[in-house]
Amino acid sequence: MKKLHIAAAVAASLAVSAHAQDTQIDRKVTELMQQMTVTEKVGQLHQLSGRQFTGPTSSNYADKLADIRAGKVGSMLNVTGVADTREIQALALKSRLKIPLLFSLDVIHGYKTVFPVPLGEAASWDMEAIELSAHIAAKEAAAAGIHWTFAPMVDVARDPRWGRVMEGAGEDTYLGSQIAAARVHGFQGKQLGATDSVMATAKHFAAYGAAIAGRDYNAVDMSEQQLHEVYLPPFKAAADAGAATFMNSFNTLNGIPATGNAMLQRDILKGAWNYKGFVVSDWASVREMVPHGFAADLSDAAVKAINAGSDMDMEGYAYSQHLEAAVKAGKVKMEVLDDAVRRVLTKKFELGLFDEPYRYSDAAREKAVLGDASHRAAALDVAQKSIVLLKNENKLLPLSREAKRIAVIGPLADSQRDLEGGWVVQGERAKVVSIVEGIRSHAGKAKISYAQACAPGCASSAGFAEAVATASRSDIIVLAVGETWDMSGEAKSRTDITLPGQQEALFNALKATGKPIVVVMLAGRPLVFNTIADKADAIVYAWFPGSEGGNAVANVLFGDYNPSGKLPITFPRSVGQIPLSYAQYNTGRPVLADKNITYRSAYIDSPNTPRYAFGHGLSYTDFKYSGLALSSAVMAGTQKVTLSFDLANSGKVEGTEIVQLYLRDMVSSVVRPLKELKGFQKVRLKPGETRRVSFTIDRDTLSFFNSQLKWGAEAGEFKLMVGSASDDIRLENTLQLTQ
Ligand code: GLC
Repeated sequence: MKKLHIAAAVAASLAVSAHAQDTQIDRKVTELMQQMTVTEKVGQLHQLSGRQFTGPTSSNYADKLADIRAGKVGSMLNVTGVADTREIQALALKSRLKIPLLFSLDVIHGYKTVFPVPLGEAASWDMEAIELSAHIAAKEAAAAGIHWTFAPMVDVARDPRWGRVMEGAGEDTYLGSQIAAARVHGFQGKQLGATDSVMATAKHFAAYGAAIAGRDYNAVDMSEQQLHEVYLPPFKAAADAGAATFMNSFNTLNGIPATGNAMLQRDILKGAWNYKGFVVSDWASVREMVPHGFAADLSDAAVKAINAGSDMDMEGYAYSQHLEAAVKAGKVKMEVLDDAVRRVLTKKFELGLFDEPYRYSDAAREKAVLGDASHRAAALDVAQKSIVLLKNENKLLPLSREAKRIAVIGPLADSQRDLEGGWVVQGERAKVVSIVEGIRSHAGKAKISYAQACAPGCASSAGFAEAVATASRSDIIVLAVGETWDMSGEAKSRTDITLPGQQEALFNALKATGKPIVVVMLAGRPLVFNTIADKADAIVYAWFPGSEGGNAVANVLFGDYNPSGKLPITFPRSVGQIPLSYAQYNTGRPVLADKNITYRSAYIDSPNTPRYAFGHGLSYTDFKYSGLALSSAVMAGTQKVTLSFDLANSGKVEGTEIVQLYLRDMVSSVVRPLKELKGFQKVRLKPGETRRVSFTIDRDTLSFFNSQLKWGAEAGEFKLMVGSASDDIRLENTLQLTQ
């Protein structure tokens, strides 16, 4: 991407909005802006946090209300519910021009009905279920007065030390791009303005998930080729899906804070991508450019942020305090200010807020929608689709319902809070189905006993003896362990991603009883649990599965739902392997079967392979792949090639396989990874059923960003692979691209 000077970049992006399609809304925005003072324009770019989560007692809350009344605030976050949003909106409508506020909230995985954390939902690889989850979240939030959610988080993340890996779609660009689009469509519905949808936010722009050492808010340093190849595509997918807004990120990217990064926000987003929505800063990220050492003071931060394309200042008070003076001093051109204001007002018109400022704050609809029990069914569906069967020795699972004695043990077995995960805003905790509750209600004739053994986090082993005694009186143990909900999410990076506290010791004590053990693992990130991985008879990874978590786990354990989830992120053997992704490079000294190569790209104390690979997930049935065929072994120009193969369910129960298509470009001007995910399909088959599955390979499938950041495919040989996981390739073939 040729760098454009800020002025040129500004001109380029302004040019887009100036020639934007002249619609009725454009005309209304223009008419309104012609009446606005600079103070009122700046007010539209000022976002404040409100009642619920900072509380009316928060500092200068009365001043905030006065600013709203004076038309000096454009949006509030953290105000929710019909009553509160009506009250605050009424204040804004007392201002001179009666410009309504936008109400926003972090509706990340549900509003009242809590869905699995996003990384868990990503493990479903089910775009329809993910879209429905976002749609229900939007429907509930919109019924509670919310116009705008700060989701989806589309940051590719390959470092599970980073706590926010919980909020995204994992490590893969292609899967992450599909999920980004599904979530935007889910939140926004068919078009903005329907009162069962909200504006989405593609965040955090950009490359926030690549924080050095997995330490949240840390610097990010990478080549522009990596940025374009790995980290930007999910944002482009969100923009193409119509994401109404973007949120920038706290991190610097190659030395420049994203909030002040014209290359990101002007050259790429508003320039090359022709993006017409608006960019909100992350919480005080404008102000934080001072401690970054990029802005001399708050005024300098305001100037640099808006000139770089940050349209709205969330809780930074930089724009409210300094932007008007900066415009008057000529440090910010009026057309830059006008462009930002136009983008914000356009969304308010698109939401219909000028015609009906209270249209999202309807008490009757709030009551009806938030009480809709059918939402729980969708939460159950996506939760069970998210669960990944990591191990199942001797087909111990599914559990029999015959009069077996099942001991449900562990610090998370009866927890409701932990099943919700982080970023829960209005969930009904008392209605969360715990794991032991779910198992009890699905157990049939089985006799269920329970022992907590230790509190969540498992700091003490004092309760182990009782748990072992309970386990000794059973035929099988179900052990629920993992992280607590507050160990992942924002500002929750960990240097040690093993099981917290004494949980491994608890597993060993239970293992010593000689009873078969099924481990249910709960976490917002990949964990390292080698002892359990080696010695447990079966392991299911349930992430934080939400309101219906206990029922989803029970349905999987008893076989009412045959697990189909696949890992959206690599599970390392140790934190020392991080960052670790399936999309690795061969290097000049690959680890080959040929042991004679002494100096290999390897460790002396660990294999290179992960504990569990990206795309891994077992089923209660077996799938056979055969008959791979290409419609042509050679591809030229814009020709397309069809890859097809037979998938058979050779087991005894119905099941769903997520077949994965990977590709390797064998020789190229920029070395390519050993594997890149280029397609997947969920295929449900009855026992004995066979289906022909096909993928279309086109030039785009073979393309990548070269060292000049030019997207394209290069002639040569490509290896095409299909399989059940990135480390479980079943069939492969080669394709020649001739030019
Ligand atoms: C937080 C997060 C961001 C969130 C915002 C508002 O710091 O980084 O994801 O949307 O502030 O809560």
